[in-house]
Amino acid sequence: MKIYNFAAGPSTLFEEVKQEAQRDLLNYKGSGMSVMEMSHRGKWYEDIHNEAIALLRELMQIGDDYYVLLLQGGASTQFDAVPLNLLKKGKADYIVTGNFANKAFKVAQKYGDIACIATSKETNYSYIPDVEKVPYRDNIDYVHITTNNTVFGSQYNKLPNVETLVADMSSNILGKWYDINKFGLVYAGAQKNIGPAGLTVVIVRKDLVGNAMPYCPVMLDYKSHASSNSLFNTPPCFAIYMAMLNLRQVKKRGGIKAMEETNIYKSNLLYDIIDNSEIYHNNIEKSCRSIMNVSFITRSPEMDAKFVKVAQDAGLVTLKGHKSAGGIRASIYNGMEIEGVKALAEFMKKFELENK
Ligand SMILES: Cc1ncc(COP(=O)(O)O)c(C=O)c1O
Repeated sequence: MKIYNFAAGPSTLFEEVKQEAQRDLLNYKGSGMSVMEMSHRGKWYEDIHNEAIALLRELMQIGDDYYVLLLQGGASTQFDAVPLNLLKKGKADYIVTGNFANKAFKVAQKYGDIACIATSKETNYSYIPDVEKVPYRDNIDYVHITTNNTVFGSQYNKLPNVETLVADMSSNILGKWYDINKFGLVYAGAQKNIGPAGLTVVIVRKDLVGNAMPYCPVMLDYKSHASSNSLFNTPPCFAIYMAMLNLRQVKKRGGIKAMEETNIYKSNLLYDIIDNSEIYHNNIEKSCRSIMNVSFITRSPEMDAKFVKVAQDAGLVTLKGHKSAGGIRASIYNGMEIEGVKALAEFMKKFELENK
């Protein structure tokens, strides 16, 4: 039976990428070594590293005024690294639209005058506040947003127009097009749309680097990594290799805008069923529904559990919602092919007929 994996991250990768990695696993390009075994200071690895950075630059149209850093520690480490590096006046604004946005906000509070200037918490994160009406404060170092809310399934379609916008883009980087020039800094854990877990990408405007707080750990100071082409210490070589293969595949498939179009099509297959159903319900305002994470509930938690179980038996796995949201969540990042979403759509129709 074909298995389709709807996990929120780590999540399904392109088949071609896994096959290529498998083919070269024991002997990379005749080097006699696995990528897992190579020195990170050697030529073989250096080419992989630089190609990954070059592809990120090309696909996201990142100019020379930004550094592209390949780091570790997950997106969660950036919850600390961002304020440690960017707070100069000691003041930043956060827009809280989901549980990870809330975590980032809470962590940053250790470091300065950090305000939550808008949130959708009161409706269980069912919408994105209107970024034109948000009361940004004066004299702030940055505004922090989470471009896609992985747990609840909402996304920003408009961005705050501020001098230094910082975004956690973990769950829709490479899956939805954003103009990088609108951001001062973007960070993303790799394990959704970039590759396997272990790599964290940070894209940061050069003028924001070099002002870290004196007690900022050396490993969290962007300057350490920017001045060494992300080879300050041993990078997660194999994760970067997998990311490089994945980035090649995104390019081959037409780039980020092409991926976004496919993701809109895929998510609409599911939202159409939900909107025309008597048992499925999605809580997110239509104008900001995520094209990456489609969350929904049925008539009861018992029926949700049955849905997840029966789907699993049919080869549609990891559909259980996040523990803080409950319900069902289908994560359909770039690596999830249309046929997988179609299989889920067919299953949803059948389940409804059988459980009305
Ligand atoms: C939007 C968002 N931010 C942060 C995180 C945490 O990432 P990590 O596990 O890489 O620290 C996640 C993980 O799912 C996420 O979806």
